[in-house]
Amino acid sequence: MTRHPEEKCDKSLGDSSHSNAAVTFRTPRLDEGVHLWRLASDSGTLDVNSRYSYLLWCRDFADTTVVGCLNDSVVAFVTGYLRPAAPDTLFVWQVAVDATQQRRGLAGRALDALVNQVAQRQPVAYVEATVTPDNMPSSRLFEGFARNRDAALTTQPLFTEKHFGGSAHLEEVLYRIGPLPR
Ligand SMILES: CC(C)(COP(=O)(O)OP(=O)(O)OC[C@H]1O[C@@H](n2cnc3c(N)ncnc32)[C@H](O)[C@@H]1OP(=O)(O)O)[C@@H](O)C(=O)NCCC(=O)NCCS
Repeated sequence: MTRHPEEKCDKSLGDSSHSNAAVTFRTPRLDEGVHLWRLASDSGTLDVNSRYSYLLWCRDFADTTVVGCLNDSVVAFVTGYLRPAAPDTLFVWQVAVDATQQRRGLAGRALDALVNQVAQRQPVAYVEATVTPDNMPSSRLFEGFARNRDAALTTQPLFTEKHFGGSAHLEEVLYRIGPLPR
């Protein structure tokens, strides 16, 4: 999906203090990489990558990424990529929602928007992500996505603590959802 560089977040938003229904989703602009970095940093949970990597991401993987915009602010993002060896599989890399907007369904909507966006260009049969066992919101997010899409969900360890070189990082469990009904 290609966006015009001048396209901005929707400015005509009402009071959003109780609802984030006005949040709109689209591919990120290059200059929004720093907002992804900030949301990741503020999450307190995510592995925070360099600012450079988020800029690179917004340049080269914008089509498999969405940002959620509210009043000109980026309040959410989902980054993903199509696996080179399995291009019908969308790997969801990071999801973050601004703390003020959490627990109102925004991550679920963002994930839906991403999968729909990618599916406009090519079939997406599977969605994968890894979740650490202590991240209940994340596991519920992917369980909910599988439920809503009427798709099977399987889990299995992917990266163990040993892969991370010791106990510095909890294991990452692979969540694999699909096949998605067309
Ligand atoms: C994970 C995260 C993106 C969820 O965002 P969100 O907009 O609050 O999520 P949603 O409102 O769409 O809720 C998704 C599911 O998680 C559940 N959930 C959300 N926050 C929760 C919490 N703090 N505790 C328990 N469940 C929670 C919701 O109830 C919902 O489950 P349900 O459909 O069974 O009711 C957000 O908590 C976040 O940014 N966390 C920090 C970064 C992170 O851990 N990202 C995931 C790893 S990549």
